[in-house]
Amino acid sequence: MPGRDLVRETRSYRRFDPEASVDHQTLRELVDLARLSASAANRQPLRYVLSSSSETNAHIFPYTRWAGALKDWGGPAEGERPAAYIVILGDTEISKSFGCDHGIAAQSIMLGATERGLGGCMIGALDRPGLRASLAVPERYEILLVLALGKPAEKVVLEDLSPDGSINYWRDEQSVHHVPKRALDDLIL
Ligand SMILES: Cc1cc2nc3c(=O)[nH]c(=O)nc-3n(C[C@H](O)[C@H](O)[C@H](O)COP(=O)(O)O)c2cc1C
Repeated sequence: MPGRDLVRETRSYRRFDPEASVDHQTLRELVDLARLSASAANRQPLRYVLSSSSETNAHIFPYTRWAGALKDWGGPAEGERPAAYIVILGDTEISKSFGCDHGIAAQSIMLGATERGLGGCMIGALDRPGLRASLAVPERYEILLVLALGKPAEKVVLEDLSPDGSINYWRDEQSVHHVPKRALDDLIL
């Protein structure tokens, strides 16, 4: 897939096909893309926890917070939840701050997911103490991001900002998820 299409199709998906699993090997391949990505001073401080079973997924989902802009939606219901997760950690014995590293790693993983017919959502709104306890993450690792993954079961469309300039994503009556993006000319100073 050409790069521009890959980026366009790599949207945030929050509802998933419950029949489609994501196996451990696929998660390893996705983390391998993160491994090859840029890292400040090449420190490579990120570490990953992989989850692809319903048992371990149940240790992660309760600590994730979804789509703050959709006030009347409480996140994916049972039967539309992610099939897998990659939890991105920062090793504080290697670095005290992780800069952009986890964002770059996350995007590499999400692009790789799209290439494989998968999709997902980066989750930064987390109950970190709860997730740490649930996964028994040692204190030396900072919990940076959770990537929720699966086979998307929703349609997401990009659109221009409406005249009121709102950047809030929204869902229409058909449950299509709309994501306004600012115009290119408004970004380049
Ligand atoms: C660093 C980061 C953290 C995010 N955290 C959350 C989150 O906690 N919950 C959520 O539902 N979406 C989260 N998102 C997804 C954004 O809401 C999403 O990127 C935005 O709505 C634009 O949609 P798009 O990714 O399809 O372009 C996060 C995205 C990024 C980059």
